[in-house]
Amino acid sequence: MKMHYLRLHGDFLVWVLCLAWIGWGESSFVLAAELVPQPIEFDGEFIYKDHCSVCHGDHGDGRSRASNSLVPPPRNFTVASDLTRDKMIATVTNGKQGTAMTSWKTQLNPKQIEAVVDYVRGRFMRTIIDRNLASGRLVYGHNCATCHGEQGHGVKDQTGTTPRSFFSPSAKMELTRERMMNSVTHGLPGTAMEGYSEKLSAEHIEAVVDYIYTVLMVDNVSPGTEKADKLPVDMNLPMPYRLVGDVRLGEQFFMGNCATCHGQLGNGQGPRAYFMASKPRNFLDDSSHTTLNRPAIFSAVTLGLPGTEMPAWGKVLSEQEIANVAEFVFQRFISPSAH
Ligand code: HEC
Ligand code: HEC
Ligand code: HEC
Repeated sequence: MKMHYLRLHGDFLVWVLCLAWIGWGESSFVLAAELVPQPIEFDGEFIYKDHCSVCHGDHGDGRSRASNSLVPPPRNFTVASDLTRDKMIATVTNGKQGTAMTSWKTQLNPKQIEAVVDYVRGRFMRTIIDRNLASGRLVYGHNCATCHGEQGHGVKDQTGTTPRSFFSPSAKMELTRERMMNSVTHGLPGTAMEGYSEKLSAEHIEAVVDYIYTVLMVDNVSPGTEKADKLPVDMNLPMPYRLVGDVRLGEQFFMGNCATCHGQLGNGQGPRAYFMASKPRNFLDDSSHTTLNRPAIFSAVTLGLPGTEMPAWGKVLSEQEIANVAEFVFQRFISPSAH
């Protein structure tokens, strides 16, 4: 498929709405209410949430409502190993041509730009920058992710049991660093969790525990909460790029390629779903009806969803083919007239 730089067209509206709604709307209210003391202007976190999270996402992974409308999508900082501090400062100052990343130099002064870049680096890029955490992430990926999942949510094994998620409220309370050092070193008798004292050096055990403790347990939210705070979008918007989908062709494609995960009824219970850690989207639930408009479906199908098994179909389908299947999903499962 041909690559497109920023093509907003039809979904430009979603985008403007997003900004008005979540970004600038809220923060100007806070400022107006003078709840915030002056120096907060130089607080990197504040600046990020005010100006950047609308595109780069609350977790810095580029997953945001706005990303539905942007090609290329906003940068995922958590894997951006090519980004030096200087390069980031330069981009934020001058923008990046051909993308939605505009220059901030008229809105932020150099000190504020440094502050927000340092926040991004400290909050989202630690596992790239900090050698101990980087090695912890590697050890985790090689030894632990098969059972605990990439994000630490826990993966079901053959007997049907799932290790509990590292970021459930109870885990956050109970799993101190000391306790984890102990269970990773010696194992947990009576469970599939074996001791690693023979397989990993003490240094690597420490690194992987630090990774769980300071990254997975901090950056992740309990399953469910993330979707709950998705805001409703305009469900009447057309496909991007003035495409008009062919429902009949879309149905054929869906039944042949998507139903295996999402189910023929769109309920997320296709034959493959059972084996997956993050379940395919159920198109029949309430949150789908308020968030999955045509541009959102088009974008999800094109780009896939990082961190889930939802593939990026943009690599194999034309835009017209994506519009066809997106139109089918919208009309059959999502749109109010479907019920
Ligand atoms: C309108 C959406 C949007 C907003 C708002 C936004 N960005 Fe971006 N950002 C993007 C896009 C799109 C890219 C380009 C992705 C690519 O080229 O892969 C990007 C890229 C970047 C990059 C990587 C640049 C590079 O050289 O590859 C940095 C750093 C960055 N943004 C920081 C920020 C910061 C800090 C803010 C807030 C002050 C911000 N962005 C606000 C959309 C946005
Ligand atoms: C074969 C599957 C499997 C592998 C591989 C595995 N674990 Fe576990 N792990 C479990 C199970 C099962 C439990 C216990 C059940 C639970 O916590 O719900 C557990 C529990 C834990 C706990 C909580 C211990 C406690 O005190 O409650 C930590 C921490 C942990 N694992 C870390 C790791 C790390 C680090 C690795 C890799 C070096 C790893 N696990 C590899 C299955 C596994
Ligand atoms: C290998 C399994 C798999 C296949 C095949 C698959 N999906 Fe998905 N899909 C997922 C998963 C997993 C999610 C993520 C669910 C979540 O976390 O919300 C998802 C999410 C979605 C979403 C919601 C996006 C969002 O922003 O929440 C849409 C729309 C979607 N898929 C459409 C499709 C269409 C159309 C096809 C066929 C062209 C398809 N999917 C094929 C697994 C799959």
